[in-house]
Amino acid sequence: MSRLSLNQLRKMKAEKNKIAVLTAYDASFSHVLEQAGVDIVLVGDSLGMVIQGQESTLPVTVDHMIYHTANVIRGSDRLFVITDMPFMSYANIDQALHNAARLMAEGGAQMIKLEGGAELVELIAALTQRGIPVCGHLGLLPQSVHKLGGYLVQGREASAAEKILQDAISLEEAGADMLVLECVPAELAKKISEALSIPVIGIGAGADCDGQVLVLYDMLGITPGKRPRFSHDFLADCGHIPAAVSRYVEAVKNGDFPTAEQQY
Ligand code: KIV
Repeated sequence: MSRLSLNQLRKMKAEKNKIAVLTAYDASFSHVLEQAGVDIVLVGDSLGMVIQGQESTLPVTVDHMIYHTANVIRGSDRLFVITDMPFMSYANIDQALHNAARLMAEGGAQMIKLEGGAELVELIAALTQRGIPVCGHLGLLPQSVHKLGGYLVQGREASAAEKILQDAISLEEAGADMLVLECVPAELAKKISEALSIPVIGIGAGADCDGQVLVLYDMLGITPGKRPRFSHDFLADCGHIPAAVSRYVEAVKNGDFPTAEQQY
C-alpha cells in the first residue's frame, strides 16, 4: 500500500472532502489512526507536553522528532506524515535545510511544518525549491508562547486578522503546500480557506477549514489539566480507543465537528 500524496490531499480540498488529521507519536497509535481512516498524522512537537511532560514545546529537539517520526512511520502504510520542526531548528536557512533534510531522510516525514508568517517567506522558498514540502502554521504559535503571553486566541481585532490573512497568502506564494490555523476566529479561518488553493487544516479555527486536527491525547481526554474549548473527548462517548478515533474521523468528514460551541 502506498502513502496518501499531496496531489490526493489537494484533490480532497478541490472536491470539498474534509481532511481528518490527528497527532501521534508512536507505532501503535499510528496503526489505530490508519485503521480508523485518518488521512494525515502530524508528529507534533506537542509531544514535548503530552509525552515528555514539559511545560511547553520549547525543549523538544530535532533528534526527538526523528525518533518519534520513525516510530509513527513503522506503524502505518497509508497515512500522510507531517513532522514539526522544533523550536529554533529553523532559525536561518542553512539550519532549516539541514534539519528538514534530517527529518525526511532519517525520520521518514513526507512534509515538515514550521510556525510563522511573512518573515519565513525566503526560508520556505529555499525549502520548497529543494523538494521539501512545507506546511505553514499561523494563528496561535505554541513555540512563541512566551512572546504571545500565553495560549491565547489570535486574530480577534481587524488589523491582526488582516495580518494573518496576508501571512497565509505569502506562505502559499512562497511555495507552502498546506497550512495549519490554530485558535483563530471561525470567520477568519473561513476567509483564509477560501482565499488559498492549498489545504487549510484548523484547530480551534471553526468548521469551514478544509480539514481538522486535534492533539490525540486531548481527544481521548487523557491530557492533564483543562481540555481546550475547541476539543472534544471522543473516548468518553464510546469507551474504546479505535472507536473514538473512528468517531472523530466520521465527525470531521460529515461536518459535525467542530460545533458552534467549539469555535471562536
Ligand atoms: O504540535 C502539535 O501537535 C501541533 C498541533 C497543535 C497543530 O502543532
